Amino acid sequence: MRLQGKAAVITGAASGFGAGMAERFAAEGAAVWLVDRDPGGAALAAAIRAGGGRAGFSQADVSAEADIGAAFGAAASAFGGLDIVCNNAGIPQATMPLEETDPATFDRLFAINVRGVFLGCRAAIPLLRARGGGAILNTSSTAAIRPRPGLAAYNATKAAVSSLTRTLALEAAPHRIRVNCVCPVAGDTPMLTGFFAPGRDPDEARAAFIATIPLGRLSTPADVAAAAVYLCSDEAAMVTGAALEVDGGRDV
Ligand SMILES: NC(=O)c1ccc[n+]([C@@H]2O[C@H](COP(=O)([O-])OP(=O)(O)OC[C@H]3O[C@@H](n4cnc5c(N)ncnc54)[C@H](O)[C@@H]3O)[C@@H](O)[C@H]2O)c1
Repeated sequence: MRLQGKAAVITGAASGFGAGMAERFAAEGAAVWLVDRDPGGAALAAAIRAGGGRAGFSQADVSAEADIGAAFGAAASAFGGLDIVCNNAGIPQATMPLEETDPATFDRLFAINVRGVFLGCRAAIPLLRARGGGAILNTSSTAAIRPRPGLAAYNATKAAVSSLTRTLALEAAPHRIRVNCVCPVAGDTPMLTGFFAPGRDPDEARAAFIATIPLGRLSTPADVAAAAVYLCSDEAAMVTGAALEVDGGRDV
């Protein structure tokens, strides 16, 4: 039980990597508060409780400051404080040339993928300080390290998440708050199809992603959850400002 006694908030927890983190964190002894705009997160929280864990859910849009405040506040009061905040919610973009990418798409990507992480970090700091320290984990991507063509706006959001993570690691260190990010390669989650170019055959697009990954498969929620457990646990007590690649060798 590597997270025994910890209380965690996870955004984007109704699906994919976030759902994987919520299940694994609960299995490692953490109380978990799931946050998602999708009300389906309530069913996962109920399933965790049915399995003997402690879990709750807030429906919230991470790009809305009031939503984040209400969700994190509900988590802190339910659990008597917070030790871990995982800012994981995000959206994809369809592969297309930059000059064909609608500015409204760019704005929406930055609102959720960057502003959402900024607001989550901003709300986390006073809560973690009240506990005497803690861990923040942001979900970045290999997109921040080795960008693929056709994803300029999405790639830029993840570069921003990685940069924000490193800056906040320095700012928060005096408060004993560690700030890291995880950089998964293309993942076997519902998001994947959102990256496909319009009209592209889905099987072909999936195979094209896999062909670029040396270990020969997509990342999974279990892969990302395992990295998240490490980075959010006391085993990583000396690790801050890191961007841990969960990428099957994609960034080598
Ligand atoms: N799947 C991949 O290929 C991949 C690779 C690297 C990084 N990532 C990143 O991992 C994170 C999780 O992605 P995933 O693959 O699990 O996707 P997913 O679509 O399975 O899950 C994302 C979750 O975020 C939620 N969400 C989206 N916008 C939200 C908002 N405004 N407010 C609250 N919740 C919101 C969705 O409802 C969904 O439950 C994202 O930040 C994504 O960019 C994904």
